[in-house]
Amino acid sequence: MSGQGVAIGLEGVSKRFGAGRDEGLQALGTVDLALRPGEFVSIVGPSGCGKSTLLRIMAGLVAPSTGRCTRPDGIATAFVFQEAALLPWRTVERNAQLLMELEGHAPADYRARAAEALALVGLAGFEKSYPHQLSGGMRMRLSLARALALRPGLLLLDEPLAAVDELTRDVLQEELSSLWRQAGFTGVLVTHNVHEAVYLSNRVVVMSPRPGRVLDVIEVPFEFPRQPELRASAGFAALTGQVTAVLRGQHRAEASA
Ligand SMILES: Nc1ncnc2c1ncn2[C@@H]1O[C@H](COP(=O)(O)OP(=O)(O)O)[C@@H](O)[C@H]1O
Ligand SMILES: [Mg+2]
Repeated sequence: MSGQGVAIGLEGVSKRFGAGRDEGLQALGTVDLALRPGEFVSIVGPSGCGKSTLLRIMAGLVAPSTGRCTRPDGIATAFVFQEAALLPWRTVERNAQLLMELEGHAPADYRARAAEALALVGLAGFEKSYPHQLSGGMRMRLSLARALALRPGLLLLDEPLAAVDELTRDVLQEELSSLWRQAGFTGVLVTHNVHEAVYLSNRVVVMSPRPGRVLDVIEVPFEFPRQPELRASAGFAALTGQVTAVLRGQHRAEASA
């Protein structure tokens, strides 16, 4: 199950919603960012600063008002949201097949790929269940499987774990990281959880309040695969502290103090 992770370039990208020059809403400030092929990047920032808008621009679903987003032609892009957005009348396997079916893949092809993706997220044996029979964590796994079955070169995750309980979230973080290492996609995760951002990522992008700009891009030096013990280490605490300080706008004060 390998998709080749792709490079994504954002150059001077901003977004203003609304037709009028004055009455429009500046949703996103000017953003420059280059994603390396196969890296995992998290984006943290206050509510409404334009994170989801930025993901939609990366997906090619929304055109930026200024600047440009460069992405290779014809790459498979998959989205995972906080709401698993499953079809309640479809079984687990039929949900996992959905996106490929919509893309017009042959049934033999999408059945095999959905089965492979379900096995990868630990849902083998639940093919004939319905979404309402699954726990919140399992529904999120199914949502991930549906995305992975596309073999995405770019996987965009918009606060996927925000609604699951804390223990399940820790487990799903380990699984997400392992899936990313196996599948090789370029991953972009929007999250409110600074620990989650640092634990999963090569780099953490910290954004300002709306209209969001990039305040800082923080490299996370810890090797993969990361171990749960890392979360309790001094180095980890130092890095999450650094991200939080930037998020709160404290880094300049500290720098000039
Ligand atoms: N399609 C749209 N039309 C008008 N305004 C929008 C649209 N999408 C988002 N916005 C506004 O743009 C701002 C940024 O939204 P969003 O990207 O969803 O932020 P975030 O994901 O960081 O919370 C918000 O004020 C939001 O209401
Ligand atoms: Mg959002």
